[in-house]
Amino acid sequence: MRTSIIQFAPVFGDIDENIKKIKKLTKKIKTVDLIVLPELASTGYKFRDRDEAIVLSERLQNSRYLEFLSSMASKKSCYIISGFNEREGEKLYNSSVLIGPEGIVGVYRKLHLFWDEKKIFEPGNLGLPVFDTEIGKIGMLICFDWMFPEAWRILALKEAAVIAHPANLVLPYCQSVTPSYSLVNRIFIVTANRLGTEENLTFTGNSVITNPKGEIIAYGSFDKEEVITADIDTELAANKMITPENDAFKDRRIDVYGNFGMLSDSEVL
Ligand code: ACM
Repeated sequence: MRTSIIQFAPVFGDIDENIKKIKKLTKKIKTVDLIVLPELASTGYKFRDRDEAIVLSERLQNSRYLEFLSSMASKKSCYIISGFNEREGEKLYNSSVLIGPEGIVGVYRKLHLFWDEKKIFEPGNLGLPVFDTEIGKIGMLICFDWMFPEAWRILALKEAAVIAHPANLVLPYCQSVTPSYSLVNRIFIVTANRLGTEENLTFTGNSVITNPKGEIIAYGSFDKEEVITADIDTELAANKMITPENDAFKDRRIDVYGNFGMLSDSEVL
């Protein structure tokens, strides 16, 4: 499957302008199966406070940003993943949506909130879903979730072949650990990072796509709005053998160190 990241600098607080930017960048994409956009791609990141974030939030079923993505997914006959500022009732979530040619497939809500996000968003309450699509099994994590190996592992145990990772990275570490997460879980990771500066935060670009061998197969610049593309064979993620005698999953000693509080793999799956 062909995967493209749209790396750009969202304009803070201007959903329409961000739709325009995304439209312009996607014109460069001819054929694609999966497009991944950054965290909070429609609004930007640094909300002054919760009130400002509420004004800029959108509901899953009534969002001009998600309607735009849905029409693009339908026209291009592809899947799209993007971060957005989700409102449900009076609660806000830092969410990532998976949209297919027929509309919304599912949502993930960021589990591990970063810094001031704790004053604005609720921690995710939808667990770690994996969506079985025509192009393969896909999980999602958002930005600072990168810090928690458990989240990558659980998605991989649930048979995700690809983890899409919309991000607004400000620390210099993530891009050096995702190749290892790809390797130890034998999966593809698509980290779609943003660019630009908002108040005291500078976002680091350098979006990356990594494969089950832990190789970086595509990467972006640190400062340019661009499309980053790689062809990936999701079948490779089904093979967990690292030598003829070592299965990266079956060799785990869950009898010694447990299995995320669950008794067996079948309870994880
Ligand atoms: C982050 O989680 N946006 C750093």
